Amino acid sequence: MFRTKSVEQSIRDTEEPEFALRKSLSALDLTVFGVGVIIGTGIFVLTGVVARQTAGPATAIAFVVSGIVCALAALCYAEFASTVPVAGSAYTFSYASLGELPAWIIGWDLVLELALGCAVVAVGWSGYVRSLLGNAGASLPDFLSGTQNGKFGFDLLAFLLVLILTCVLILGVKLSSRVTSIIVGVKVTVVLLVIIVGAFFINGANYHPFIPPSQAAAGGGGLRAPIIQLMAGYTPTNFGVMGIFTAAAVVFFAYIGFDIVATAAEETVHPQRDVPRGILGSLFICTVLYVAVSLVVTGMQHYSRLTVDAPLADAFKSVGHPFWAGLISFGAAVGLTSVCMILLLGQTRVFFAMSRDGLLPRTFSRVHHRFGTPYRSTVLLGVIVAIVAGFTSIKELAELVNIGTLFAFVVVALGVIILRKRRPDLPRSFRTPLVPYLPIASVLASFWLMLNLPAETWLRFGIWMAIGFVVYFVYGRAHSRLGLFGDTR
Ligand code: ALA
Repeated sequence: MFRTKSVEQSIRDTEEPEFALRKSLSALDLTVFGVGVIIGTGIFVLTGVVARQTAGPATAIAFVVSGIVCALAALCYAEFASTVPVAGSAYTFSYASLGELPAWIIGWDLVLELALGCAVVAVGWSGYVRSLLGNAGASLPDFLSGTQNGKFGFDLLAFLLVLILTCVLILGVKLSSRVTSIIVGVKVTVVLLVIIVGAFFINGANYHPFIPPSQAAAGGGGLRAPIIQLMAGYTPTNFGVMGIFTAAAVVFFAYIGFDIVATAAEETVHPQRDVPRGILGSLFICTVLYVAVSLVVTGMQHYSRLTVDAPLADAFKSVGHPFWAGLISFGAAVGLTSVCMILLLGQTRVFFAMSRDGLLPRTFSRVHHRFGTPYRSTVLLGVIVAIVAGFTSIKELAELVNIGTLFAFVVVALGVIILRKRRPDLPRSFRTPLVPYLPIASVLASFWLMLNLPAETWLRFGIWMAIGFVVYFVYGRAHSRLGLFGDTR
């Protein structure tokens, strides 16, 4: 259970032609790729929800808190990614350092993160597209517009989006990254527009109070209350200083994606140098943009009046500028497409790596003879995600995605410390500074955010992980190539 796959072995596996992905990405591609997936539903949708319900203008501080947690994790990710440059991200890293069972746990956890993350973004995208359709005077029937106001419905647009993106991915990474660059350009332009144009409409009065005083949560919060508040035994609250942390645990979703840059290491020409640059670069750009956007939006409109569906666009409507609002909705819809696609890509790559190692059926890791992509796992997961996206609603899923990702960060940070001890000899083009202090700080910071998520999120996460244990002990353990052959070939 704690057998490890050596780092040399991981690298060798990627050299088998039948199971090898094509190497074509550069540092710039990776940064674009990172920004492409990072900016999405988090800033476009969750900012409004969080400002209105838990943090007010202090949402900007929540973004800083979350950004710091991610920066710590990124420094650990970067060392791992530059040491073990193969597909699979935290999964591969932990196979090389912690052992097969922890690696399985992480892989299973990442599938949850990426699959549900993709579904969440697809649903957010569909909302923006429906709002654009509305501007043009068109609309979809209610039963095809997703679940709204407690009324059940199928989200046709989200479902179709995921299926189309699945086809694009099968055609190859290079095509997807080209499409991505254009989309990223549109998205960043729109975010800059919000910041620059919006700055002219800031009303200082909206910042008072900057940190709204804490209020008891309705109905005591129940299982929706952050687990830390339940554990500490005091009445669950919103706003106040604790509200900033609750908000940070939710807006964390806005940063998800920089870790996925690491999953593309195997497809990078110079992974040792370019992966750390790609990860840290995209994370930095996003943090600056998020803080600016949340300051502008809460300055334009009082936080209690922000909308929860399209807060950035609606803030412009509130100051009498529907044209800018339309443009922003359009950019958001375009931008969310790339996020959705890259989450799907990351997910199929993790699945691919697990299957290549025999922990999931090997047939899913055959790559297409012409396109060089793992088409079987892409089709399987694409269809499942499309169905999930068709039938789910956003916020609670986003929290589940966050807990899974934070858990992966904890394991990666521990992995850095362990790998330094076990394999001090390995070449590391990027070294995390201040080991073991920085990784320990990263573990504590990620765990702190996890504690600020609702009790019910912990419960759901526990159930998903329990299913993972069953699958590992029933299938993975017996079919592991490392277990069968002593290596993964
Ligand atoms: N960070 C991505 C988003 O905000 C997942 O949508």
